[in-house]
Amino acid sequence: KQPLRVGIAGLGTVGGSVARLLARHAEGLALRAGRRVALTAVCARDRTRDRGVDLGQATWHEDAVALARDPQVDCVVELIGGDEGPARTLVETALAAGKHVVTANKALLAKHGMGLARIAEENGVALAFEASAAGGVPVVKTLREGLAGNAVSQVSGILNGTCNYILSRMEAEGLSFAECLADAQRLGYAEADPTFDVEGFDTAHKLAILTSLAFGVALDPEAIYVEGISKIAPLDLKMASELGYRIKLLGVAERTQTGIEQRVHPTMVPRISSLAQVMGVTNAVTIDADAVGELTLIGPGAGGDATASAVIADICDVAAGVVRPAFGLPAARLAPPERAPMQRHEGG
Ligand code: NDP
Ligand code: HSE
Repeated sequence: KQPLRVGIAGLGTVGGSVARLLARHAEGLALRAGRRVALTAVCARDRTRDRGVDLGQATWHEDAVALARDPQVDCVVELIGGDEGPARTLVETALAAGKHVVTANKALLAKHGMGLARIAEENGVALAFEASAAGGVPVVKTLREGLAGNAVSQVSGILNGTCNYILSRMEAEGLSFAECLADAQRLGYAEADPTFDVEGFDTAHKLAILTSLAFGVALDPEAIYVEGISKIAPLDLKMASELGYRIKLLGVAERTQTGIEQRVHPTMVPRISSLAQVMGVTNAVTIDADAVGELTLIGPGAGGDATASAVIADICDVAAGVVRPAFGLPAARLAPPERAPMQRHEGG
């Protein structure tokens, strides 16, 4: 069999890890997928920067869209970020050219996911995004494939590693919000614009994706009530602790009698609850479903290698010939969004 020829656009925290892991696990991936995965093209801004891996065999593109058009690329891996600009053009160009796309870009998917899913279907290619929600935690596959025989009633949890890292360290070490955010940025957890993390928008992007997968509805990010953690002060955490609680930024989507309610906000959770034990960059996603009951996935929500692990799972699927509707159902069969009026919630 011919190798799957992969082009990676973006060689930063995640893209660099993907390139290194593809090299490290080349033999195992070839066995799993039934053919080799060859890195044939790459693209980033700074050609001189050492990416910690030999890129000598790959064509370097100055322009991301040129990578999408490269005839030596079968699968484009978009790891630039942003909901417009080069990332959007690159993904649209690649799909329209009949190339598979793997991305971790939840902002792009939340805004344009329906349109991109349609282009992928029209061209018979995969649009895969396991890494877009909860980093290394395989929640996309769980909802789309693992729970195919269920009706989901709720999906909720800690979906942003940066916020959980900040809240955990502020509480445990008494550090300031600014110090913790700076460390999260240094460790590669935060978005290029960390406002997306701390104001709750990144959690909302992920929640929009999970809601679509869980309930079989079109993405509806505008329906999400969003409140972040930027106003949480050390005193809030101390008071919560004295009352027997921890503060967590949660994303919650649940089916109510009037539709699907989606919300993101800081929440007081009892210190004895399992959610309160989820600290640092770790994410936790709980799914309530009729057949399986309650299921919780816990693991690293951000960071280069953890996120690259999910990207590589998608690349392996593509190499093995797996092409599924991006959001579980064909885009035309996803139900229209079913917005529920916001309810008042006591204690989260
Ligand atoms: P980084 O900022 O670390 O990397 C971005 C990369 O894109 C860099 O290599 C940069 O080049 C390159 N780049 C930027 N602009 C352009 C351009 N115009 N043309 C070509 N290349 C460009 O981001 P991350 O790796 O952290 O994130 C990438 C994506 O993954 C984002 O969508 C993010 O939301 C998502 N994600 C990130 C996670 C994380 O833990 N970091 C976890 C889950 C998802 P150069 O290196 O030369 O500057
Ligand atoms: N900035 C994101 C986070 C990256 O901290 O969770 C993972 O999506």
